[in-house]
Amino acid sequence: MLRIGIVGAGLRGRLFADALADRPGVEVVGFAEPSTRVAEDAATTGLPVVPTHVDLLSDLAPDAVIVATPDFAHREVAVDVAKHGLHLLIEKPLATTLDDANAIAAAVASGGGQCLVGFENRWNPHVLKAYESIQAGELGVPITSNATLSNSYFVPTQMLSWAAQSSPAWFLMPHTIDMLTWLTGRTPTRVSAVGSRGILEQRGVDTWDVIRALLTFDDGTTASLSSAWVLPDAGEGIVDFRFGVIGTEGSLSADLSHQGLTTVTDRQRSLWPLSGRIGRSAVGPAVWMVQDFAAALIDGTDLGPGIDQGLLVTRTICAIEDSLRTSAPISL
Ligand SMILES: NC(=O)c1ccc[n+]([C@@H]2O[C@H](COP(=O)([O-])OP(=O)(O)OC[C@H]3O[C@@H](n4cnc5c(N)ncnc54)[C@H](O)[C@@H]3O)[C@@H](O)[C@H]2O)c1
Repeated sequence: MLRIGIVGAGLRGRLFADALADRPGVEVVGFAEPSTRVAEDAATTGLPVVPTHVDLLSDLAPDAVIVATPDFAHREVAVDVAKHGLHLLIEKPLATTLDDANAIAAAVASGGGQCLVGFENRWNPHVLKAYESIQAGELGVPITSNATLSNSYFVPTQMLSWAAQSSPAWFLMPHTIDMLTWLTGRTPTRVSAVGSRGILEQRGVDTWDVIRALLTFDDGTTASLSSAWVLPDAGEGIVDFRFGVIGTEGSLSADLSHQGLTTVTDRQRSLWPLSGRIGRSAVGPAVWMVQDFAAALIDGTDLGPGIDQGLLVTRTICAIEDSLRTSAPISL
């Protein structure tokens, strides 16, 4: 039996526990959660809840650990777990500083466990089909790509208690940078970013409202990224997600906002069809990612995007921040 512990019993920690319930050969041993309110709620699952990851490691003896703490709080947990030689699924972004990311990478290398960084779009059916189409040469050679991933005010002002310690770049761009580098097979060498702030600050959250970044890749081709945290809550949903790739022989584009189902009432926003449960099964990219993580550990196959991709994405977002601060392009 593969014993998996979950650090952080918030939105993602609970989603992962639900996704792993009843998986053959897998036992979720419990959560580590410092917030009493969140811990009490997590205890309603019937799983043990301990206050810290140190208690989880000593009391619940996991073989693998999922790090689902806020963006800025991955390092301490990931380094301790990795040093024990345990396997890791670390939520994106790997870390929000290069120092943290390098410390995690070094601990994983010395501990000898395996590590998946939670770039869940690798398990997103539309992104996977786009990848397969590009791999099959249907677009020719990629020339340029773009991605928009934005949220309505709900996310920074209500869903995330720690939004001021993150940003549209740290919360959203890990998804789009991972996706476009995976789809095109290219590595960013230069970054130029612009952004604006002040609107969220007026709503009590001191972070960027909008960030736009231009990436230049190792072969001179380009990509553009846009992420905002200021979409209206009275709109169609909390997520706007679109991307496209243009190649020498064709192009593709996707609009995944609300996954094609739009419901607007004065009480609710669109719910994604690929989320929650269908019949007896939990569904959605994050569900399939964590189920594959467990299955790959059990059968010894490839885990998916690891530390190197996590480092690349963190390095790129650090360059985006440097470019925002200096108003100059930054070489990677
Ligand atoms: N919510 C999403 O849609 C989403 C999507 C993809 C990835 N993620 C990523 O998942 C991670 C978690 O996000 P979330 O939305 O679940 O946040 P959340 O705030 O809902 O949950 C995080 C939990 O971690 C707990 N925590 C903080 N420090 C801790 C520590 N040292 N040990 C144990 N628990 C600790 C907090 O008390 C909180 O309950 C973030 O890195 C985020 O970017 C979130």
